[in-house]
Amino acid sequence: MYSKEEIRQFLEDSKKYLTSKPDIRRLRELLRFHEYRYYVVNDPLLSDEEYDKLYKKLEALEREHPEWITPDSPTQRVGKDLNDDFVTVKHLAPMLSLENSYNPQDVIDWRQRLNSFVKSPHVHFSVEPKYDGAGISLIYENDLLVRGTTRGDGAEGDDITTNIRQIRSVPLSASFSKYGIRKIEIRGEILLTKENFRRFNEELMKEGAAPLANPRNAAAGSLRMKDPAEVGRRRLEAVLYHVSYVEYSGEENKQLSTHSGTIEVLNALGFKTPQHDIRTYTDINKVVEYCLSFETGRDNLPYEIDGMVVKVDEKVFQNMAGSTSHHPRWAMAFKFKARQATTKLKDVEFQVGRTGAVTPVAKLEPVHIGGVTVSSVSLFNEGIIQEKDLRIGDTVIVERAGDVIPYIVKPLTELRDGSEKKIHFPTYCPVCGDKLVKPEGEAVWRCMNINCPAQVVERIIHFASKDAMDIKSLGESNVRRFYEEKIITDIPSLYSIDYNRLSGMEGFGKKSIENLQTAIENSKTQELNRLIYGLGIRYVGEATAKELASNVEDLSDLQHFDKGRLQSLKDIGPRVSESIYSFFHDDHNLKMLQELRHKGVNMKGVHKQEATGSLAGKTFLFTGTLEGMKRRDAEKLAEDNGGRLLSSVSAHLDYLVVGEAAGSKLEKARKIKSIQILNEKEFLDLMNHSK
Ligand code: IVH
Repeated sequence: MYSKEEIRQFLEDSKKYLTSKPDIRRLRELLRFHEYRYYVVNDPLLSDEEYDKLYKKLEALEREHPEWITPDSPTQRVGKDLNDDFVTVKHLAPMLSLENSYNPQDVIDWRQRLNSFVKSPHVHFSVEPKYDGAGISLIYENDLLVRGTTRGDGAEGDDITTNIRQIRSVPLSASFSKYGIRKIEIRGEILLTKENFRRFNEELMKEGAAPLANPRNAAAGSLRMKDPAEVGRRRLEAVLYHVSYVEYSGEENKQLSTHSGTIEVLNALGFKTPQHDIRTYTDINKVVEYCLSFETGRDNLPYEIDGMVVKVDEKVFQNMAGSTSHHPRWAMAFKFKARQATTKLKDVEFQVGRTGAVTPVAKLEPVHIGGVTVSSVSLFNEGIIQEKDLRIGDTVIVERAGDVIPYIVKPLTELRDGSEKKIHFPTYCPVCGDKLVKPEGEAVWRCMNINCPAQVVERIIHFASKDAMDIKSLGESNVRRFYEEKIITDIPSLYSIDYNRLSGMEGFGKKSIENLQTAIENSKTQELNRLIYGLGIRYVGEATAKELASNVEDLSDLQHFDKGRLQSLKDIGPRVSESIYSFFHDDHNLKMLQELRHKGVNMKGVHKQEATGSLAGKTFLFTGTLEGMKRRDAEKLAEDNGGRLLSSVSAHLDYLVVGEAAGSKLEKARKIKSIQILNEKEFLDLMNHSK
């Protein structure tokens, strides 16, 4: 898409514009180029920070000159208004589905049938992945993206243009005119990579919401969201694989006369396509071979595919083959082996987790799916049982897709014989008997008794786990055994185990006892961030634990952080700060920390020294254009002198430094009495005076 020379020039101009006043048109080209490198090619050439800086420059220029804004400007992805109901619109050409095949013979038979429509020995077949996402259709007119639509019923779909514009790998404009194309409709798939899906589900679970079943559902759901900005945060990707309609301004373009040529054109125009995975063959046996080789490697792909699509490459031959009312005769889906199976739901158990959340777990008649035996799957929460109307004794469909944990798709209600039993969610904790509560706005029931044995055991398991204190010989099953035998009773008791008591236990020879003892002893010197993570404070993952550890000299400092101080740290919002604050103000927790300290567990932070300098501990925000120095330099000066920068005006801000043409931040700061408003000179004086 870009030549070496162009790339060099793009980079040179990007660096130049980071510090000088840019030309707006060139700046947009640069940002588009960097979006392409980041989202389509996955090979960024600028740091996120540099990209943000360029982006902000464009925003500032457009704020000064709103008349210069174009609909395809990189700033125009962000829709400000919420979507009302989506409007149904007609596709330019119907979105047909594909005929399915499930084994090599089906493909060979299809090739045979094709002979009666296409009487030529020179047919080529393109083979590419069948992406398992949500189908979409895009229309570009005069090089601009004008519409994005869901598949709908194939004839018409929902207009989701505002949401599609949030997907960074979809270009807002593309030079179709260079190919003589005035209007074009393109088909493709919206995907969420397995990695992004996993992250997305983690977020949901942190919030107490039920995780989604698979990336396809997550992608499809995302496209129909009311808030376009939220769509932007979900890191969706778009792969385009088919052109369903073209209107030329002049002559037809020859490159579009084959499917493989069409993919090349889309690729050259900056779209993500199956480019790297597409192969073209004349021999149908080679087609089958390629399909099978992809099936073997499907788990190693970053996204889910549910098969391969075989397409006649030449448009002339496609036209000869034509379509039925359902599917084109020139294409065929080679579906991979099902990762679904049916089995019986025997029982539902209720497990109590580390935070007291009660999770229903379905016990199944063991069943083989894609090489593993599944006998137990999480049902996540009560809502899911009700939504699916599951009953004990039901025959259910279970799916296991790639890295995704197995889940129950649905019960087969038509197979019920009346003996199935309703599932009753307990009202009392199945382990300690305390009454369960469902906090407002959450989907899960919780046992609030922090001494509930189930919670205590799970907390110890988490404390010892690999990403926390990493106590190697103390796996989950040992923790359970030791707890049952009362060898350990809580986290601190790990450091006063009576090792004599282990010697009689099965599986504990002299050597393994020694290993365990060493592993526990060594954990005392683990870094503070691991200890903080291991404490299992709600919403505190590894990243937050690191942030906390690098902002204290000793763990006890956190007892003196108020919620404001906590929220001034990276990525800590009201919910997380509330949780940390209450953890460090709970007597039971403080007693536990004291015991750990007593037993020699390291509580010292290692990374950042407490800020020193004349502005130590003070918070700053700069707004408007400064006269004598660049804003970035002023910010650096504040930081070098021990100050901390905040990104918005709040009661945690000590100083707002105001330059020329300061706007809403100044207005807001004037309303908060504790904020001191300084001009540039006063800011410099402040540093000199306090030296
Ligand atoms: S071609 C008329 N290519 O599969 C042919 N479809 O089951 C147009 N799909 O609705 C479709 N990957 O959403 C085509 N590489 C691919 C595909 C693909 C996934 C989806 C598409 C279609 C469905 C049919």
